[in-house]
Parts: sequence; structure tokens; C-alpha cells
Amino acid sequence: MSYNLLMGKKGIIFGALDENSIAWKVAERAYEEKASFILTNTPASLRMGKIYDLSKKTKSIVIPADATSISDIEILFDKALIFFGGKIDFILHSIAMSINIRKKLEYPCINYDFLKKGWDISAVSFHKIMKIAWDKKAINKWGSIVALTYIASKRNFPSYVDMSDYKSYLESIARNFGYFWGIKEKVRVNTVSLSPIYTKAAASISGFKDFLYLSNKLSPLGNASSQDCADYIITLFSDLTRKVTMQNLYNDGGFSKIGINECLISLKD
Ligand SMILES: NC(=O)c1ccc[n+]([C@@H]2O[C@H](COP(=O)([O-])OP(=O)(O)OC[C@H]3O[C@@H](n4cnc5c(N)ncnc54)[C@H](O)[C@@H]3O)[C@@H](O)[C@H]2O)c1
Repeated sequence: MSYNLLMGKKGIIFGALDENSIAWKVAERAYEEKASFILTNTPASLRMGKIYDLSKKTKSIVIPADATSISDIEILFDKALIFFGGKIDFILHSIAMSINIRKKLEYPCINYDFLKKGWDISAVSFHKIMKIAWDKKAINKWGSIVALTYIASKRNFPSYVDMSDYKSYLESIARNFGYFWGIKEKVRVNTVSLSPIYTKAAASISGFKDFLYLSNKLSPLGNASSQDCADYIITLFSDLTRKVTMQNLYNDGGFSKIGINECLISLKD
């Protein structure tokens, strides 16, 4: 159902790879809510994924950019400002990758070159995107910037390995840059912490299906699907949340507030 919440708004969506991607669902919902936007991903992901199907469906254009490359992001914003004939209103950062997880290295044994690469992709890219948007004065007053995170930033989930550190850093960037965006441009910056969802990035996390199952059982409302997350993110891009900023917001069926409940007790031997 559409409420025209994003009528007249323009944005950039990072990270739609295939129909399971959270960014994909956000793009579909943003289109339903009458936003216009640019889709972007790395050149390799454009070749391997299905982003052009999404661009056709949502009447959006695709501009390649590696989110760790300053020059790629600059070109992306220059093109966006020309394409829209002015500033944009929202950005979704839906990007993550850990080579340590892919290589199945445990936290005590991580490789530091992999750590730096994963940190750059999963966390520092958020700062780079905002810095370039800042330098180019690319975002309208009361705009909204959102990045996606997971509760492993705050609690120990061993299978999240170094991704948990990237997520802590990502949330910190949102808080710190959010201050400057708020003061100077009245722009909001938030992270949304999600339930586990089966996607390409998630598939590399060891035991992810068990993780998904147990999280669903423990959450009073059950796991939030990518559709649920997209609905929530749309409200953050809309004018209904203009004073929400520098927050880490949970859309996880209540999982983040759970202690010991009947489900856990039933697992007792
Ligand atoms: N799936 C989950 O369970 C879950 C839970 C909480 C948070 N998240 C977060 O949601 C976000 C989206 O992940 P997803 O689960 O939809 O998986 P996904 O694999 O569909 O999306 C990850 C995206 O990151 C992109 N990417 C990787 N390196 C990049 C780079 N250098 N430049 C630009 N883009 C790059 C990939 O091409 C891909 O499109 C991530 O931040 C992830 O950590 C996911």
C-alpha cells in the first residue's frame, strides 16, 4: 500500500545486488512511495547481480561506484546532482563485507589486511559518502541518511567475527557525523539495526540458518523481514521523522531487549 510518503523526494541507494538484498526491498518501497532515485553498486556487483532488473522496475538509473573510492563517489554525486537538477533528499548505505568471515577465520585469528579492507568497505565508506555529500552540499535541508547495522555491534556474536567491530564503528560515524549534519544542514543521520535476513552477505556467516531460526523464536514479534525493514526505512526518509537523528534504531521484533525467556529455558537439557 502506498501513502505517497516520498512524493518529490530524490535519493541514492547503495547496495542492491539481487532480490534478497535489503536495499532492493527499500528501492521497491521507495518507488511505491513515489521517490526517484539512483541505484549504485560496484562494477563487479553490477555484472554479477540483477540491479538492472530493479532499475527497470523502479524507473531508476544505475551509476557504478566502489564505495571505498573517493573518486568514484565524487563522480556519482556529480552525476546525481546533474541528473536530478539539484540536491538530493535521502541516502541508504546498505553495504558490508568481511573477508575474514568469508575465509572462515575466527576472531582471535583474523588477518589484519582483511580487517582493513572490510572496515573500509563496511564502515569508513559511510564516512566517505557523507563527506563527499557534505563537500558538494548535495543534500537538501531535512534530508535523511540511513545505514544498516546489527546488534553484534553491542553484544558478542562470535560468528560475526570482525563485522561486529565494523558495525560499532559505523554506528559511531552516524552519531558523530549526524551532529555536524544536524547543526549545519538540518539533515538526519541514523543507523537501523535489523533482524537477521537471508541475503548474499549473510550467507557467509557460519551457522546463519540456526541463527535466523533462534532469533525468530526469541523475538516476541518474530524476526523483521526485509520488507518490514524497508517499511521502517521509508518512514525515516519521509517527513514524519524530521527530529530523529544520531540514533541507532532497532527494527528486530524486540530481540534486542530480550533476557532469559521461555524459549531459552526450553533449550535447557
Ligand atoms: N542480512 C542480514 O541479516 C543483516 C542484518 C543486519 C544488518 N545487515 C546489513 O544490511 C546491509 C545490506 O546487506 P544485505 O544483507 O542486504 O546483503 P547484500 O549482500 O545483498 O548487500 C551487501 C551489498 O554491499 C555491496 N558492496 C560490497 N562491497 C562494496 C563496495 N566496495 N562498494 C559498494 N558496495 C559494496 C555488495 O555489492 C552488496 O550489494 C549490510 O550493511 C549488512 O551488514 C544485514
